[in-house]
Amino acid sequence: MSKRTLLRAGRLVDPASGHDGVADVLLDGAVVAEVGPGLEAAGAKEVDCGGLVVCPGFVDLHVHLREPGREDAETIETGSRAAALGGYTAVCPMPNTDPVADNAGVVEMVAARGREVGLVDVFPVGAVTLGQRGVELAELGAMARSAAGVDCFSDDGHPIREARLLRLALEYARAFDAVVADHAEDASLTDGAQMHEGEVSAMLGLAGWPAAAEEMVVARDLLLAELTGGRLHLCHLSTGGAVELVRAAKARGVRVTAEAAPHHFTLTDDAVRSYDPVFKVNPPLREKADVEAVRQGLADGTIDAVATDHAPHAREDKEVEWSAAPPGMLGLQTALGLALAELVGPGYLELPAAIERLTAGPARCRRLPGHGGPVTPGAPANLTVLDPAAHWTVDRARLASRARNTPFHGRELTGRVVHTLLRGAFTVRDGEAQR
Ligand code: DOR
Ligand code: ZN
Repeated sequence: MSKRTLLRAGRLVDPASGHDGVADVLLDGAVVAEVGPGLEAAGAKEVDCGGLVVCPGFVDLHVHLREPGREDAETIETGSRAAALGGYTAVCPMPNTDPVADNAGVVEMVAARGREVGLVDVFPVGAVTLGQRGVELAELGAMARSAAGVDCFSDDGHPIREARLLRLALEYARAFDAVVADHAEDASLTDGAQMHEGEVSAMLGLAGWPAAAEEMVVARDLLLAELTGGRLHLCHLSTGGAVELVRAAKARGVRVTAEAAPHHFTLTDDAVRSYDPVFKVNPPLREKADVEAVRQGLADGTIDAVATDHAPHAREDKEVEWSAAPPGMLGLQTALGLALAELVGPGYLELPAAIERLTAGPARCRRLPGHGGPVTPGAPANLTVLDPAAHWTVDRARLASRARNTPFHGRELTGRVVHTLLRGAFTVRDGEAQR
């Protein structure tokens, strides 16, 4: 008989099935065997989940793991560990590595390394254009048919500048039901930009990245999704106008999904007054009204998913003067706490809806077998157990990531991951990574 584990008396929040209530979850080896109150399971190892929330493992549609090429900033191993500690069982690393993940060889390597590490399922995103140079399409079919089974393509880090190429990508991707994920930025408007364009940039005298540079590309992308019938995903929405465009497109039936990053529902461009490059990110931190719009978008489902855009950078790259620093911030270990503090605390979303945006929501944007729930008999036991009341303080020195660039160092958060299980095996137990 395979190993049985009984998660006893937790509050099971399973957005995919709509379940919210105290239940036992019995695992048999890698799968869920039974769900219900007061289960009898002779011989099973019991894990007391009283007072805790049991939910599907979190799914992150947008991370940068830096391998291959910048293993000094992060590796698939350290990034997987940070993910598991953050409650994730699946992550989707972006292809802006060195070499770029624009062919079957690189995506297969990333997926294989992810399997070897075994802390989370790693679903690599393939590049849309060769070298992410925006000139010619990469071999999307070869990546889709490879052992990595790529189901999402993006030039993230850069926009797909040419409408013609995005159109082609959306058309080709239809053939294997894949998604094209765009980083919406009109580069002709952001060349040399250092931060969001607004009052603060004017005061600081830094070149601005206007909201319109995001919104015009979002509008273009939505028109092309409509034209082609292809599946479009919009990365890290950060402006009120972008949220409104997606809301209207969804209302008229465009096949589009969208994500937002925790920093875009938490921080504003006010933070840039410090000139601390830890606050530099692309798209940039916006204004209060944008933060409010992103929260509303998550609340009404216009934005399907919280995605971290976890972007580790080596200290010697990031801790330089503002204008020389690369954009990006860590996200994997703070996403849950920020979602609870900034979305659930002030009443934008109830806890089950917030969990939906971390689990079933992102899973719906992609094809990620076994992730996002439902937690039902026969399903792979990819689960997170969290303590919604636990207080902790973010300490960058204690994060599992190889990099240290979190803007939330010293911030007190409520809500912590206690256990994470991948196919029934603890990757995190009592807050400790198991590898
Ligand atoms: O802030 C960002 N960092 N935005 C991106 O689009 C790329 C990412 C990175 O790779 O560091
Ligand atoms: Zn991006």
